[in-house]
Amino acid sequence: MTNYKKKNIDIIINHAKVYGFIFKSSEIYNGIKSIYDYGPNGIEMKNNIKNFWWDYMVKYRDNIVGVDTSILMNNKVWDASGHKKNFYEYFIINYYNKKIYILEELLNFILYKINNKNNIKINNIKINNIKIKFLKLFKKKKIKKLNIFFKKKIIKYNLSKILKWDKIKKINLMFKTKINSFKKKEYTYLRPETAQGIFVNFKNIKNSNRMKIPFGIAQIGKSFRNEIISKQFIFRIKEFEQMEMQFFIFPGEEKKWYKYWIKSRLEWHYFLNLGKNKYRIKDHKNLSHYTTFATDIEFKFFDSFKELEGIHFRKDFDLKNHQKLSKKNLKYFDIKSNKKFFPYVIETSLGLDRIFYSIFYSSIKIQKINNKKRIYLKLPFFISPIKIAILPLIKKGKIINISKKIFNNLKYKYYIVYDDKDSIGKRYRRQDAIGTPYCITIDNKSVINKTVTIRNRDTMKQINYKIKNINKYFKKNFDISNFFKKKII
Ligand code: GAP
Repeated sequence: MTNYKKKNIDIIINHAKVYGFIFKSSEIYNGIKSIYDYGPNGIEMKNNIKNFWWDYMVKYRDNIVGVDTSILMNNKVWDASGHKKNFYEYFIINYYNKKIYILEELLNFILYKINNKNNIKINNIKINNIKIKFLKLFKKKKIKKLNIFFKKKIIKYNLSKILKWDKIKKINLMFKTKINSFKKKEYTYLRPETAQGIFVNFKNIKNSNRMKIPFGIAQIGKSFRNEIISKQFIFRIKEFEQMEMQFFIFPGEEKKWYKYWIKSRLEWHYFLNLGKNKYRIKDHKNLSHYTTFATDIEFKFFDSFKELEGIHFRKDFDLKNHQKLSKKNLKYFDIKSNKKFFPYVIETSLGLDRIFYSIFYSSIKIQKINNKKRIYLKLPFFISPIKIAILPLIKKGKIINISKKIFNNLKYKYYIVYDDKDSIGKRYRRQDAIGTPYCITIDNKSVINKTVTIRNRDTMKQINYKIKNINKYFKKNFDISNFFKKKII
């Protein structure tokens, strides 16, 4: 179903493992499906992405604050949020190979196949009509009719043998967990979105930080979903991190802020410099239970666009339901108009693992130099796990002293490494593979001329540089404010 080119996804998974970015969880026991661990370089890169998001969303603004709320929450939260009732995925199992497919994705895939084959009408029914009919049934969750529809309308066309299906199955994606082992009935769920921690704390945060509408609350944290379909590396996993922000606004201003946040979030993505043509904005047709309207920022993975981030208009759905169930007043009082009301909410929700994947996938470059393969990670410098590698050419005498001095001078400013193992060629290759933007080599010339060689990862160009000016060089090249010279939108 996914359009991955097998060879490429294998290269990415292998590179992530060999160079300490991502490992299969519990690998020595053959792993656990759709769950991954981040290695030493992975965690550095992940933290850099988090910081980049946090700086842009919280630190550089005066109307957004951050929180870190718990993963386990009162069971009633999931009644009020609607997740117990509505957070289902619909699956269908292939009759022949017993593979499980997400219903909506499968339909899109089949229609894509039909469309691309000959762009024809089938039995006088236009493809588009099939799609519209399906989406209507899907939206209303008419499973019985969907089953008939799937069998009669789709299978009848007998496009290939694979189109024979078992019945549609409906599964709640939340992980249920016991909260007190002595009391059988006490249970809750691992949160499936970080947003609810923000909604239930709305009053606390508004009061403690004297927030005035319009304002936002941001959070980065783990979420859990019992996803059935895997095989997409870290694109869809069971334990993942979200970077979410709920923006509370005056009712009636939703169009303005919705537009604003789509533009602003796109700007953040463009700062990563992965190529504007890799992004696409798409209205979300099949809305989740809490949204009134929504847009996805999609990213082109291999040859198909996939959801990266969601911008959702949640109206007053969450606060209203939490007030109803908790019986606590969650309305906002506006002094100017002397009115109490539920603020409306625009949410921005980005999967950290998904953005990690998009950056990692886009940054792997394979070059041929003198018939030899060079693999390097062309990461934005502020995302690279390691910023500088100090590489003494010889392991003795004054060269070591100079190298250690440079290392000790820079280590408090940047995450750097000191490496004197292997040949210089091998050391360069290793730093290229983990995306280190600069390598400093120290040799005999350093002793005589007080200069070092600085090598650029992308161009492989080397320059001689005075040791006493090294700080200035990196200050200029690692200045993140260059990115934000424009006013943040
Ligand atoms: N609070 C809103 C919310 O959770 P969502 O569209 O279900 O909305 C938001 O998820 C984002 O979280 C997605 O765009 C995606 O980046 C990420 N995400 C969702 N499920 C995921 C999964 N199983 N694995 C990795 N990332 C996921």
